[in-house]
Amino acid sequence: MMIEYNPQYNQFNLYTKNNQLSLSVLPSGHLVLLYFGKKVSSESLHYYTNEIKRASYLADTDSTKDFKLEQFPLVYPAYGNPDMRTPAFQFTYENGSRISDFRYKTHSIFAGKKEIPGLPNANTNQEVSSIEIILQDEVTKNEVNLSISCFEEYDVFTQHIEVFNYSEEILKINRIMSANIDLLSDKYDLITLNGAWGRETHIQRNRIHQGYQGVDSKRGASGHGQNPFIALADQSANEHYGDVYSMNLIYSGNFIANAEVDMHQNTRMQIGINPFDFEWTLLPDKSFSTPEVVLVYSNKGFNRMSQLYHQFYLDCLMQSRYSKKLRPILINNWEATYFDFDREKIVKLAKEASQLGVELFVLDDGWFGKRNSDDSSLGDWEPNQMKLGGSLQNLIQEINQLGMKFGIWIEPEMVSRKSELFKKHPDWIIQVPNRVPQQVRNQYVLDLSRAEVQDFLIETIDSILSENNISYLKWDMNRNITDIGSRVLPMDRQKEVGHRYILGLYRVLDTIVSKHPDVLIESCAGGGGRFDPGMLYYTPQIWTSDDTDAVERLLIQEGNSFVYPPVSMSCHVSAVPNHQVGRITSLKTRGIVAQQGNFGYEINLLDITDEEKMQIKEQIELYKLHRETLQFGTHIRLSVYDEQNEVAWMKRDEEKVIISHVYRLAKANTVPKRLKLCQLEEAAVYYLEGTNRRFSGGELMEIGIALERPTHDFYSSQWILTKEKQKEVNGC
Ligand code: DGJ
Repeated sequence: MMIEYNPQYNQFNLYTKNNQLSLSVLPSGHLVLLYFGKKVSSESLHYYTNEIKRASYLADTDSTKDFKLEQFPLVYPAYGNPDMRTPAFQFTYENGSRISDFRYKTHSIFAGKKEIPGLPNANTNQEVSSIEIILQDEVTKNEVNLSISCFEEYDVFTQHIEVFNYSEEILKINRIMSANIDLLSDKYDLITLNGAWGRETHIQRNRIHQGYQGVDSKRGASGHGQNPFIALADQSANEHYGDVYSMNLIYSGNFIANAEVDMHQNTRMQIGINPFDFEWTLLPDKSFSTPEVVLVYSNKGFNRMSQLYHQFYLDCLMQSRYSKKLRPILINNWEATYFDFDREKIVKLAKEASQLGVELFVLDDGWFGKRNSDDSSLGDWEPNQMKLGGSLQNLIQEINQLGMKFGIWIEPEMVSRKSELFKKHPDWIIQVPNRVPQQVRNQYVLDLSRAEVQDFLIETIDSILSENNISYLKWDMNRNITDIGSRVLPMDRQKEVGHRYILGLYRVLDTIVSKHPDVLIESCAGGGGRFDPGMLYYTPQIWTSDDTDAVERLLIQEGNSFVYPPVSMSCHVSAVPNHQVGRITSLKTRGIVAQQGNFGYEINLLDITDEEKMQIKEQIELYKLHRETLQFGTHIRLSVYDEQNEVAWMKRDEEKVIISHVYRLAKANTVPKRLKLCQLEEAAVYYLEGTNRRFSGGELMEIGIALERPTHDFYSSQWILTKEKQKEVNGC
């Protein structure tokens, strides 16, 4: 068992292969965090809390002189006691009181892990142990159940909270974090993934300071501007060294992730549903579960943290049959045609693509209703036979005959104002009484908190997938929620809509995925507007960004790879000048950058030269040859000499190592440095493809490979090393 309980000191030690989380119960019943970090061999850490020095002027707890709760590293702090930092939760009772006092009641330790009904959560067939610690409020008898699971092999802890209303009163939940970690220092940098549409997941690193800092979303989705991820890292931590404490929330809606430094240089880190515009009415005998949070500690910098997330998500979170399967190389017609296509164009594009080795054709927006621009037809999911030159089945057949699988785009959560669905069900949209609902991209958001709307979506998607030979579905979502309100919820439950929407979305996804397990689903929200672990649970790949420029993608993909497995990140080679930024990059660089993730094309193949077609053919052949390593190899971000101007990464598995390097701008008289590789076996021998050179792992890590001199902007290089089979090698 990976969880021990020491009754003498009321201490819980939770272990994974290398890490440890230790909690204990104070004599007062408050739960404290003794330690989170690398495994240490100590039976009891009970001395730890005794050694915390007392500050002056903090309030005493339980009227006990010198018992200053505010100085303890607490596990799930309540509101209303002498700990005056931001609480992890806050409830309102019928008498208007917002004060709770939850203390340890009991616990249970068991093998395995319980499901969280209605919410995506991690699980595995491999070894996992869990603990449930029940805290109780003596006055109301309500309980908070803190569930923590230890995934031994993965060095990952997960946690979620369940609140039980055992009183006879209605309980209003105003705030309920999924996790709270108190660290007794403020010498950290705060790492978040920020940006905007077209600029998602840029790594933001800032020194923390006294006060409150962090990110949140109020958009009804996790959002382009922020990601449900937060880390505190040693100020000196880098890709390879240093302590990193991180949290990633398995949730796709409004969230908050913050760090608060108090006046005694302690830091409180929290993540959970955003309490802004949230309130949940919990009736007697009912319970409420928070989304699950994934807690990762690394004492070897960011690469190790990322690798722990990647493996954990692939093995224990992503439920799709495709999670660990090689993904097809696709062509998507969006940037090639936008809405302007007919059957002839589509078939020509597909023919050309199949000749170059593409395996899947994806028909994007515009195939249904009267949709020739973004101003109509969402909700009317009937194929436009005029445009498709016949039935959808017939078009699919023609594409299948070319030896390609077929995929289709859908944006099920939306309805256009100009649509039959809106005429029929104007009341199905998210809206508030007496106000004109706002359109964004000429569309409204359907109220997915309503069961009949969920059922309609399930039925519609199910019939499209059942009636047609569709292998892949791109599930898009192109606007955030404004004017939030539901026609069916009572006045005092309107603040539940945001969370209920996400629960509804998860129900629809869950049903579709279980009915059509063979369909590969890619989610998308105007690019990476909902790139989060909640969506990854159902959809094993996500469109990373609507910005397809190779240079812009370097930053987006680097940030994304901080947490999410590269195979989940869809990356396409697109046209030049690039449609978003007008930049011209070589096909080679576009290919190398897109190969960082799940590879495809989004380019008009009818509009390029024969030489470019040849190059694409070769690119595809190369990708197929190394697909296993590129999609599932361990991903390592490499240190470069000039971080502002260079990006490098490598992928490694048992057989190969693939290294990629890109210069942003070429500078006159550059004397290129060497690029040192990481995480290789020192004594192993590697052959450099295309040469007769061989290197030891030690050489590659300590001396590195010589970079080329950039002859133009956006210059890129790639090296492929094959590992010699026999293990013991002498004198390389
Ligand atoms: C936004 C997506 O991110 C694009 O790739 C494309 O599918 C458009 N929507 C279609 O409307």
